[in-house]
Amino acid sequence: MAIAVNKPIRVLFVCLGNICRSPTAHALFQTHVNREGLSEKVKVDSAGTGGWHIGHPPDKRAQQTALAQGYDISDLRSRVVSAKDFETFDYILGMDNENFKHLAMMRPARYHGVLGLFLTEAGVVHSEEVPDPYYGDGQHFDRAMALIQNGVTGLLKRIKHDHKL
Ligand code: 4NP
Repeated sequence: MAIAVNKPIRVLFVCLGNICRSPTAHALFQTHVNREGLSEKVKVDSAGTGGWHIGHPPDKRAQQTALAQGYDISDLRSRVVSAKDFETFDYILGMDNENFKHLAMMRPARYHGVLGLFLTEAGVVHSEEVPDPYYGDGQHFDRAMALIQNGVTGLLKRIKHDHKL
């Protein structure tokens, strides 16, 4: 993948509603990027394939789960993934197979970034998907959080390697 010199690397996390999984990944990955002093080099965003929650903050259960791990995700707002995102983002990562299929249908032929499943692209070998916790209980949110924590660590390692950061 060719990335122009000095342009930041842009990473977009995508789930269904952009109120549970992808904002959690967004906030956790951003924290890791900041900790490593890479905030000018790696830009982070998230979006949903569905528009039911546009402009809404993350689901209260996702906020609580994140806060319990020391992450405040309350300032994020839901938006829908758009065609323009394929012109902007170098990595577009779906949380589950449905999200990925939706993104693959939107993918323009000229897109040369990485479009894939978040956990797979992050090198997590034991799970492919971050299952949707929205209709579940606290355990489902905890499970999503654990997978996302694994994923963001692996993804940053991979991106640092890909771009020699
Ligand atoms: P997310 O979870 O995709 O992780 O944000 C969902 C949020 C909302 C809905 C489904 C999943 N919903 O149907 O409204």
